Amino acid sequence: MLSGIQPTADSFHLGNYLGAIRQWVRLQETHDAFYCIVDLHAITVDHDPARLRERTRVSVAQLLAAGLDPELCTLFVQSHVPEHAQLAWVLNCLTGFGEASRMTQFKDKAQKQGAERATVGLFTYPILQAADILLYQANVVPVGEDQRQHLELTRDLAQRFNGRFGQTFTVPEPHIVKDTAKILDLQEPAIKMSKSASSPGGIIELLDDPKASAKKIRSAVTDSEREIRYDEERKPGISNLLTIYSALTGKPVPELERDYAGKGYGDLKKDLAQVVVDFVTPFQERTRKLLADPETLDTILANGAEKARRIAAETLAVVYDRVGFLPPK
Ligand code: TYM
Repeated sequence: MLSGIQPTADSFHLGNYLGAIRQWVRLQETHDAFYCIVDLHAITVDHDPARLRERTRVSVAQLLAAGLDPELCTLFVQSHVPEHAQLAWVLNCLTGFGEASRMTQFKDKAQKQGAERATVGLFTYPILQAADILLYQANVVPVGEDQRQHLELTRDLAQRFNGRFGQTFTVPEPHIVKDTAKILDLQEPAIKMSKSASSPGGIIELLDDPKASAKKIRSAVTDSEREIRYDEERKPGISNLLTIYSALTGKPVPELERDYAGKGYGDLKKDLAQVVVDFVTPFQERTRKLLADPETLDTILANGAEKARRIAAETLAVVYDRVGFLPPK
């Protein structure tokens, strides 16, 4: 199993946590799990070098604080394993221009930046993602709903390579947990919570001041009815709050609906704000402690990279051979 996350913000948000990281923590128990902080992906948009370095460390600390255990999984930074970029090149040469042009995340981001400013790196982003996955022969890739199309491309590329050059890659399956696959923006529950698209009021950042997060929950956009009921179509705001509540407490949504029968939106929001505070407060404490010891973080990453590289190098050697590169003497 493999998954990745970008170190592109000062903090992960609740969508990252509920859609992906929480699954990673669970799946490390049962799978041979590789988790990658994708810094090569992070430079596909404008970035500040010093902040990227800092954010990469903060990312590792948050993943460990969320429950990743370096004894159970392999946690590493993408740029520490050069095979990712090397395989990406080979896959670039198998991807159609039109095929890459159909990636909706690229179209959205490119449109936001303006066609002249969007980079070729942004265009080939999903192909690098395919390389991340295929290098480790992953069967399972735990992600949120927004990654489905990239996973489809990865599967197509694996099948294409296998068909053209002989069986080489495992064709991976996305692992998308329906209930939490798309956490919505609190202010605009028609769009997903996202570091690039959400307004500050719409996004819960795990490392933000808990009081500020509580306030955002209390100010979440809902609807003009009164009934607390899960209905994605007609009540996306309330449904999103119920999803978050249920995911953080383990209480099924129907039970929450029963608990809140006859109560108001304000009651639900107040209680959920407390649930969020109770979740992020110890999380922040663990993250701070981990960040106080960067030596240990770097050692975890060095061990992770070494383990990842062994497998990545093996796959890349087969790929280079299959495509006909002359081996160096
Ligand atoms: P990134 O960093 O944008 O997102 C990391 C993970 O968080 C999930 N996610 C969400 N899930 C539910 N609701 C949301 N609102 C929400 N927002 C984000 C994403 O689906 C993702 O699982 N392209 C990947 C990074 C990547 C990767 C890989 C993933 C690079 N290589 C290989 C898997 C395998 C991404 O979007 O990261």
